[in-house]
Amino acid sequence: MAEVNLRKITSDNDEECLRLEVQESQKGFVASNARSLDFAKKNTTMFPLAIYDVAARGYATEEVPVPMVGFTMYHLLEDHVGFILRLMVDKAHQRKGYGRAAMVEVIRRLKLYPEVEMIATSYRRVNEAAENLYRSLGFVPWEIEWARVDKSEVYLKLPEWRCSF
Ligand SMILES: CC(C)(COP(=O)(O)OP(=O)(O)OC[C@H]1O[C@@H](n2cnc3c(N)ncnc32)[C@H](O)[C@@H]1OP(=O)(O)O)[C@@H](O)C(=O)NCCC(=O)NCCS
Repeated sequence: MAEVNLRKITSDNDEECLRLEVQESQKGFVASNARSLDFAKKNTTMFPLAIYDVAARGYATEEVPVPMVGFTMYHLLEDHVGFILRLMVDKAHQRKGYGRAAMVEVIRRLKLYPEVEMIATSYRRVNEAAENLYRSLGFVPWEIEWARVDKSEVYLKLPEWRCSF
């Protein structure tokens, strides 16, 4: 089973983050990392993180022995929701378990915030990989008014604090 190490994005690793790419057919499913990092710079409640294989653990960021495999970002919303806003795994590293392992680690971190009462995420309705991944982690539909307006996006939450891992 894959294990990941999540690291802050700094001047040591931001260029590598900008080079990560999803498959051509997946480009409509997630904003570019450039856009997400720009968004995070202007908003202190967004937390962008680089995803590495666990082999990076214990090394300084500028000398990690393994490549960055993906990017994720969560948002602490004012209404006490920890929202997982971005998740992408580079096309060369997909289907190796990194996406699932990164979600598990982000959820673990979100649970550590006393102010977070709910963990939620969303995906484009046609994104089968995201649907399979989030459902397998125990996410269920989140019926909220503003989510009903945007029919192309599916909103999910973790029921209570239970999840299937
Ligand atoms: C979605 C994404 C992050 C998954 O990352 P990943 O590292 O490839 O996923 P994992 O290897 O951890 O797979 C976990 C589960 O996701 C599902 N999954 C992943 N890729 C899939 C695919 N191509 N088709 C169907 N299901 C898929 C499966 O349920 C898989 O479990 P399994 O291997 O036991 O079948 C990756 O495909 C990606 O970056 N896609 C483009 C960006 C995107 O859509 N992000 C989500 C935005 S909401």
